[in-house]
Amino acid sequence: MRGELRKATGSGGQAAADILTVAVPTGRLFAESVSLLRRVGVLGAAPEAFDPPQERSLVLLAATGRILVVKPADIPVYVEHGAADAGIVGRDVLLEQGRDVYELVDLGFGSCRGVVAVRQGEEDAWPRGRTVRVATKYPRIAARYCERRGWPAEIIALNGAVELAPRVGLADAILDVVVTGRTLRDNLLVEVAEVFRSTARLVVNRASLRTKEAAVRRLIATVEGLKELPADEASGVAGGKPLPPAVRSESRDG
Ligand code: PRP
Repeated sequence: MRGELRKATGSGGQAAADILTVAVPTGRLFAESVSLLRRVGVLGAAPEAFDPPQERSLVLLAATGRILVVKPADIPVYVEHGAADAGIVGRDVLLEQGRDVYELVDLGFGSCRGVVAVRQGEEDAWPRGRTVRVATKYPRIAARYCERRGWPAEIIALNGAVELAPRVGLADAILDVVVTGRTLRDNLLVEVAEVFRSTARLVVNRASLRTKEAAVRRLIATVEGLKELPADEASGVAGGKPLPPAVRSESRDG
């Protein structure tokens, strides 16, 4: 890690138990995650223009917290292992990985739907063939989905641009997330089933919930408070609500 922007604690004199390390995902959820952490005070007086494409350091230190910039699929790994106390991650990733983290707050942004899609014109013939070939970034969800329906399936795990697979004959269908539907349309695919819905979630490490309980409670209460305010009023909110019941991250999909 190079170019750390500021020393973590020291001058402010905050105890280690008050400093939270929060992992934020690159990509779709990044901007809103950073904005949220700035508003809840984890980023404190950190520089306004924290922009990883420009700033190659993947850790941002502020007097009030530390931010790790992590690939979306790796957020639960950092949180489960305690390298981060908390993280922001899509429910889609939690459903796929089933990690041992506490999923405490639905942050409300980053809405998307996990769907099955096939080539246009083939929707009535789906599922086709004896074995369905499904390309996806969510192999576990896809396997469960087919298994529950009793479909023999070949799950083709890809890392992105999944919509290409049916066009070139690699798969009969995809299971992927849809936001606007444009990528499906532009790749001549059509949705045949919704499998899950997803938004960004705040997840917390098990041990941090004990060892940094006060800081975690404050974070959750402040985040919950912000959700109830219009965005332009949502700054400098102090928390105070009780910690919601901890739920192990094992949200169910269809
Ligand atoms: C996501 C998803 C779809 C697309 C959906 O991909 O996997 O491809 O966004 O958005 P839309 O419905 O608004 O078109 P992402 O941009 O995260 O890249 P990836 O395919 O490389 O994962």
